[in-house]
Amino acid sequence: IRTLIVAGEAFPLAKTGGLGDAITGMARALAQAGIPLTVLLPAYRGVRARLKRVREVAPLHNLPGGDARLIAGTCPQSGLDFLLLENDALYDRAGIYLDEQGCEYGDNAVRYAALAHAAARVAGGLPGIVRPNLVHAHDWHAGLVPLLLRAQGLRDTRSVMTIHNLAFQGQFPLECAAALGIPERCRGSDGAAAWGRLNFLKAGIRYADRVTTVSHTYAREIMTPAFGCGLDDLLRQRAGDLLPIPNGIDDILWNPARDPQLGALRFSVRDLSNKARCKAALQHEYGLEAAAGTALVAMGSRLTEQKMADVAVQALPEALERHPELQVAILGRGDRRLEDALQELARRYPGRCAAHIGYDEAAAHRLHAGSDILLHASRFEPFGLTPLYAMRYGALPIGSRVGGMADTIEDPGPRAPLSAMASANGLLFDGDSPAAMCEAIARAVHLREHALLWRAMQRNAMSADFSWRSAIGLYASLYRSLTGPDARDAV
Ligand code: ADP
Ligand code: GLC
Repeated sequence: IRTLIVAGEAFPLAKTGGLGDAITGMARALAQAGIPLTVLLPAYRGVRARLKRVREVAPLHNLPGGDARLIAGTCPQSGLDFLLLENDALYDRAGIYLDEQGCEYGDNAVRYAALAHAAARVAGGLPGIVRPNLVHAHDWHAGLVPLLLRAQGLRDTRSVMTIHNLAFQGQFPLECAAALGIPERCRGSDGAAAWGRLNFLKAGIRYADRVTTVSHTYAREIMTPAFGCGLDDLLRQRAGDLLPIPNGIDDILWNPARDPQLGALRFSVRDLSNKARCKAALQHEYGLEAAAGTALVAMGSRLTEQKMADVAVQALPEALERHPELQVAILGRGDRRLEDALQELARRYPGRCAAHIGYDEAAAHRLHAGSDILLHASRFEPFGLTPLYAMRYGALPIGSRVGGMADTIEDPGPRAPLSAMASANGLLFDGDSPAAMCEAIARAVHLREHALLWRAMQRNAMSADFSWRSAIGLYASLYRSLTGPDARDAV
């Protein structure tokens, strides 16, 4: 198997959320398991300079958006080999998907169609580049890859499409299709079109040899109208080729015992005394009252409706009123309206609630290290890396019973006897009502008063194995089934 991974993000070169972490974590684990691979990524601003052993490998003429070139190099942090698609007119910009005002770049269709065409050219064979026999496309940014491989008749190159988030589909006017190099026969509603628009993710799901998504529960959910974002019909048609492969986390990067962000305050499951110091430091950083006994609830996520930031705006005032010992620290960026509402909340509860609006990787590590509880509610959650990061740092998540969180968070529930919580590693609640969120917070506050029980839950959370190991076995056998000697029957 020689794999080309195609994605819009890869940590630390480019990241806007969990996708970047998942690509790098998955690729590193696959590479360590002996699968030769390269990651194809747009040469966003500054990315080329962060690689070593950089060399120009191939000019690519007449891609959407004009001439481009492929640059090869290695990322020193991850050790991964990259191919960068360089076209400064398309990618040398301040943001990845959004401009400085937070608006989608108007030419994203061209930017990511060019990426897909570059992948198809690599798959077709370019001098100086080893030809892959499998292309693994991720999310809508790479959605046109399986379509283009089919259109070029590249039947000896297999494709896998992984859905990290069905809510983002990459929809553009159908009139763009010709300029993006999509053959006419693929432009219908049995092809890449949905609701009269060109749909990149649909193209990927429709034309890939196999489709995967990142948790068992999400794989079932997306085949229903409630979670299918309009593509549930197609996903049901492809049910036989749709496979859940749960993500892992990078347990070296997210390890409180080795985390450089914690300086001298590193800690482990055996000794949490430094976690108390991290909490004091977090209270200082957020301007919260210095009080060791409080239940410090953190929120660290995109501030969007997916992440129920709107519900938190309604639930947190009541929670703060009900529990005089409660503190809230928020780190996030997202919808302006929700950012403003959370900042307003912080003004109403000085010393007890603070909101840092922004995106800060190091601050996310300190947030998990210093907090007792992570409030991470979601209306849908394909996987949910953040609650697992928090768990490793002994901050117990309050999550929603959806997607990956329903699979990774163990909670016997409020009706089980208290002692049953000794096997829990977090709390789950159902639905998206402020009342349900408030109840879950109350449950967590109450459980924390049972110090030994809480400690047992922290132990479960901190020592759980959420590594990439099991995922890699599944990807490797998927790849083998598509490219091995029996593969002809498999597709
Ligand atoms: P999603 O990909 O849906 O946003 P995940 O929980 O899987 O959800 O991944 C989110 C990633 O983005 C995590 O690595 C998290 O730490 C990071 N993240 C989100 N918001 C911020 C922020 N404001 N500052 C730093 N990191 C953030
Ligand atoms: C998406 C999902 C998130 C998942 C991540 C990595 O951004 O929203 O749940 O963890 O991708 O797969």
